[in-house]
Amino acid sequence: MKNLNIVAVIDFGGQYTHLIARRVRELGVRSEIFSWNVTPKELESQHVKAIIFSGGPNSVNDIGAPKVSKETMSFLETHHIPILGLCYGHQLLSQYYGGKVQQGDQKEYGHTIIEIKYRDQLFKGFPPTNKVWMSHGDKVVALPAGFRISASSENCEIAAFECTEKQIYGLQFHPEVVHTENGQKLLSNFIFNIAKLKKNWSMEDYIDQQIEAIKAQVGDNRVIIGVSGGVDSTVAAILLHKSIGDKLHCVFVDHGFMRKNEPEQVERFFKTELKFTHFYRINAQEEFLSALKGISDPEEKRKIVARKFIEVFERIEKELEKKYGSFGFLAQGTIYPDRIESAQPSKTAAKIKSHHNVALPEKMKLKIVEPLKELYKDEVRAVGRLLKVPEELIERHPFPGPGLSIRILGEITQEKLDTLKEVDAIFIEELKQRGEYKNYWQSFAVLLPVKSVGVMGDSRTYEWTVVLRSVDSVDAMTADWSKIPYETLGFISNRIVNEVKKVNRVVYDITSKPPATIEWE
Ligand code: XMP
Repeated sequence: MKNLNIVAVIDFGGQYTHLIARRVRELGVRSEIFSWNVTPKELESQHVKAIIFSGGPNSVNDIGAPKVSKETMSFLETHHIPILGLCYGHQLLSQYYGGKVQQGDQKEYGHTIIEIKYRDQLFKGFPPTNKVWMSHGDKVVALPAGFRISASSENCEIAAFECTEKQIYGLQFHPEVVHTENGQKLLSNFIFNIAKLKKNWSMEDYIDQQIEAIKAQVGDNRVIIGVSGGVDSTVAAILLHKSIGDKLHCVFVDHGFMRKNEPEQVERFFKTELKFTHFYRINAQEEFLSALKGISDPEEKRKIVARKFIEVFERIEKELEKKYGSFGFLAQGTIYPDRIESAQPSKTAAKIKSHHNVALPEKMKLKIVEPLKELYKDEVRAVGRLLKVPEELIERHPFPGPGLSIRILGEITQEKLDTLKEVDAIFIEELKQRGEYKNYWQSFAVLLPVKSVGVMGDSRTYEWTVVLRSVDSVDAMTADWSKIPYETLGFISNRIVNEVKKVNRVVYDITSKPPATIEWE
């Protein structure tokens, strides 16, 4: 991954920093995030050829507000590296070059129309007016000498400025969010027309580079990886296998809470299609079920599943070590957002759920190798496609680590598990057959510990209630319930009550997140 010219995104703590890096990569240019206290040496060693200053929660006038050092700024000037400042970054640039930033009369949040004055640089090819997304309290009220206003909005005269001579550009709004029309075109103008970068980031290159990087990192060591059948761990395992072959050992802990036929599919894929020599499906269903016996509390369930998972994984690791010798590394399918989320836990955020799958590396004493740690989910999917991972697996809806154990409310029994698997399978099969599966972000069924009265034929029934849940989301942080056509829902409900013996009532969950969460536990 050396010698690739990159766009550095300087992070001032803005909520969209990662989105900026991601947008740049979408344009086919490598991009990395650096802290605001980045040194000239770091920028030089990384071949930085353009800089984007992110937004941030501070005011540039605050004491102790994050600022790029004078040394770094003069390095950028001497090397003629173009800078684009967004929101806080825009204000910081203006302040650094002698302009003035003040608190606005009112905070501006949401859509605004800007009028564009100069359309030869950043706004090349733009219409005279453009809808943009603003989110700020402060604003630039006086320009530095030699700068010009390139766009204005009703509430913000200096909505964009530029100094073409110094190649410095500022935008009070956010081109990286989808609500800004032509936002990607703006970034493209900056990267290709102004900074004159060439495309250099493709998933094909990434695969080749990673295969080499893994070899260099793990050397002759054996590597163990836990796979779940999900896209991240599968793609990570394939990359590792391409790199170190049979020195990779894949452990698939079958806790019994996977969807119908899924464990068999996972096993077949790794053993028959990928022909992995060291793939182990560990049938631990009974062990998990008995550990959960009598447990109804959601958090307790999650903790037991996580603990059991580590216990089983470590046991298998020891057994394998006896047979093959010790492992040097534990591989993980961690992706970029996972790292960011776990690196920046909010101090004030209340704990909603204990997610299972972050606990593993903390407990293990092995060194970690994470071949996907620089990628976003859509990039992992793109890598997966290039590695010929079946489309069905790539497009599969997200599935929680504890699986169906957190979709059976109350105590889990084998009978309830079997029932839920059938219901879920019908739901998903119907969505797929109707070509609707891809329209929804995540769809699944939940079994409630509630029985209700029904009538079938001439007889009274008294059976379980199931919930169908389907949501539209981008990142699982917020979600809305999917507007599945009534006809589809009706058909699915009918199939469920006719085909699944223990269920006589089907309900559809129409709650968004927040206030609900996506899963029921
Ligand atoms: P919630 O229910 O918190 O779910 O709105 C958000 C997303 O996370 C998934 N989820 C998990 N994923 N381990 C995971 O890998 C877990 O323990 C876990 N719990 C929830 C959930 O399916 C949804 O996509």
